[in-house]
Amino acid sequence: MNMLEVKNLTFKYDNHNFILDNLSFNIKHNELISIVGGSGCGKSTLIKILAGIEKNFNGTVQLKSISYMPQSNTLLPWRTILENILLPIEIKKGNKKIEKEKAISLLKRFDLLEYSDSYPKELSGGMKQRISLIRTLMSGGDLLLLDEPFSALDAITREDLQNWLLNLISTLKKSMIFITHDIDEAIFLSHRIFVCSKKPLSKFKEFLVPENITLEKKIHLRKEILSIIKGDNFYEKN
Ligand SMILES: Nc1ncnc2c1ncn2[C@@H]1O[C@H](COP(=O)(O)OP(=O)(O)O)[C@@H](O)[C@H]1O
Ligand SMILES: [Mg+2]
Repeated sequence: MNMLEVKNLTFKYDNHNFILDNLSFNIKHNELISIVGGSGCGKSTLIKILAGIEKNFNGTVQLKSISYMPQSNTLLPWRTILENILLPIEIKKGNKKIEKEKAISLLKRFDLLEYSDSYPKELSGGMKQRISLIRTLMSGGDLLLLDEPFSALDAITREDLQNWLLNLISTLKKSMIFITHDIDEAIFLSHRIFVCSKKPLSKFKEFLVPENITLEKKIHLRKEILSIIKGDNFYEKN
């Protein structure tokens, strides 16, 4: 089985227009996918369905296990970094001792152990996002669902985190769906890019990102994706 199989997924919020209309796609093991598209096209909604938060849909979603990081995922200011990471486990009432060891080993592995007793306000924005990602990993899912995790960061921090994330994913052998507004970020992070083209979302325009993509191809790809997001369909007519 694939990592994720979505078939004929249809969804609307009560008394609103359809957001997803018969959407189908698959994701293979170890694949890294980005979803880009204009604000309000249904990216967060789709990922919430995959995460099991929105349950009132039609169609089928088959997946193994996910780790989900919501669009505005914040750390609690009155808890230390380690306590923040352990929060979801506390809510689920997992085995505290084992989970604590797991949290510490993750922090160690990704060079964050020195922050375990710090409070969020002592950390930079980039560090806080790393901690949020580590917290997300604690649930142990194989498919990471990340909803615009870097959108609030400055360009340089963002680049650091993109590299850090890729290293983390290859170390832990995860698959990923990454939502972003930033086309360059999508190109850098993914094997395939899904672009929302129209509302309701019935089919993604899909782009393969070649390995070691040349600058020229990258510029072309960016233009093509942008034209779809803007809805002028320039490349379709030609
Ligand atoms: N809980 C909700 N109830 C009603 N409408 C919603 C709800 N959440 C989102 N929407 C609407 O659904 C559409 C898609 O939202 P969303 O999935 O958050 O888009 P995106 O993440 O692509 O910006 C938007 O028009 C949004 O206003
Ligand atoms: Mg969103």
